Amino acid sequence: MALQLLNLLLRDTAATQKLGYLLGQYLSPGAVILLQGEIGAGKTTLIQGLGKSLGISEPISSPTFTVINEYTEVAVPLYHLDLYRLSPEGVSALYPEIYWEGLEKTPGIVAIEWSEHLPYKPPEYLLLTLTYNSEQGRNASLQLIGLDSFDLEQFGTIWKQSE
Ligand SMILES: Nc1ncnc2c1ncn2[C@@H]1O[C@H](COP(=O)(O)OP(=O)(O)OP(=O)(O)O)[C@@H](O)[C@H]1O
Ligand SMILES: [Mg+2]
Repeated sequence: MALQLLNLLLRDTAATQKLGYLLGQYLSPGAVILLQGEIGAGKTTLIQGLGKSLGISEPISSPTFTVINEYTEVAVPLYHLDLYRLSPEGVSALYPEIYWEGLEKTPGIVAIEWSEHLPYKPPEYLLLTLTYNSEQGRNASLQLIGLDSFDLEQFGTIWKQSE
């Protein structure tokens, strides 16, 4: 059976950004990343690297108050959602599925901070959990949920080669 879980050590901020960058190169339009991790774990930092790989030059910050930032000036758009301040009911009222269904919005990469607040999930996604490492940096765990198009083993090799 194909690898379903990959754990990586992110030694510093640059490593977190690089993981985002490599994911941006690896993922196909329409892909969803659900991010989990405490305040300051590095979710926005990772999405900054993702944005860079998609060619977005605007600065990317947490849309904690605006909830959704859409970067559509590039070939593959980035949809950055931050659900921190919303209840599951509040999230439903936003119809988050428009970002992954590919009907109303041009298919892009969807990255969702505080994805624990989603009342329902996309049919397939990459679950990315960031945790504080007791020694240094952060741990990243990548888990595939129904995402057959993603080869975690191959991505792990790409990561090693980048180190
Ligand atoms: N691997 C790492 N090692 C050490 N520091 C890191 C690492 N990755 C990111 N950081 C730092 O940790 C902080 C993370 O902030 P960031 O805004 O990305 O967190 P967040 O998970 O989005 O938080 P919030 O839940 O408030 O949105 C930044 O100061 C960043 O430089
Ligand atoms: Mg954030």
